[in-house]
Amino acid sequence: MTTSDHITLSRHGAVSVVRMNRPDKKNALTSTMYAAMAAALQAGEADDAVAVHVLLGVPGAFSAGNDVAEFAAAAASGKLGLQVIDFLVALANLDKPLICGVDGLAIGIGTTALFHADLVYASDRSLFRTPFLDLGLVPEGGSSLLAPRLMGHPLAFELLCLGNGFDAARAASAGLVNRVVSADEVEPAAMEAAEALAAKPRGALAIARRLLRTGHVTTREEVLTRIAEEAKEFSRRLASPEAAAAFAAFMGKKK
Ligand code: COA
Repeated sequence: MTTSDHITLSRHGAVSVVRMNRPDKKNALTSTMYAAMAAALQAGEADDAVAVHVLLGVPGAFSAGNDVAEFAAAAASGKLGLQVIDFLVALANLDKPLICGVDGLAIGIGTTALFHADLVYASDRSLFRTPFLDLGLVPEGGSSLLAPRLMGHPLAFELLCLGNGFDAARAASAGLVNRVVSADEVEPAAMEAAEALAAKPRGALAIARRLLRTGHVTTREEVLTRIAEEAKEFSRRLASPEAAAAFAAFMGKKK
């Protein structure tokens, strides 16, 4: 399995926990991290001892989104990394439930990954923001399809295109978050729900999840097709002068 120092894996009974763990960069995600997360999700799917996936971050940061330096490097090749696509496809292909625990920043893919989750617990200090357009980019991860289905067009457009961000209460009222709790309650809430789901009859759980996600959200094939379509547009945008200027501005701030 692909491993990364910045992704830690653990098992609690039948619950597989994947933790993004790059606190010094607010959990900005690199290709190596995507590859490790995709591999962990796939391994959990293949392992009969695993019933539920949990995805967590670190205090204050679920994820600050894709590493902008990697975006800038990808711009040169005009291609989105295969690893991020593998991660998104792994999310879309899950048969077992995914529970996310968000504390703090959920930026870019830190928000769009949540559209693939079945339950999301978030701290009251969380911020869900997708600055795609400000970076000269477009929504990814199937979010252009899943967000409007979940919250309706106006809210999805506000989240994905206006990009000012939703606080936790707004994200909950939009249907993205199940429950808002204090920061120290996020992981216990996620684990409690995971353990409760893991205790249910597995066959019934798998069928119920498939039935609920098909139709109400959309079909898996539609999601995979949209992920590919978005990735094509996203790759083109990565190579645009607008994106180059935005990446340079972000990286220049540090100098
Ligand atoms: N890519 C690369 N590095 C990132 C990053 C990202 N997406 N997000 C944060 N970092 C780095 C910062 O550059 C900084 O590194 P440094 O300590 O070496 O200078 C470190 O993480 C801490 O971030 P900082 O900006 O100091 O924290 P903050 O709390 O003031 O702001 C954010 C946090 C997330 C609002 C801000 O870092 C940000 O806007 N990041 C970019 C988010 C983004 O555009 N993601 C892509 C979405 S498509």
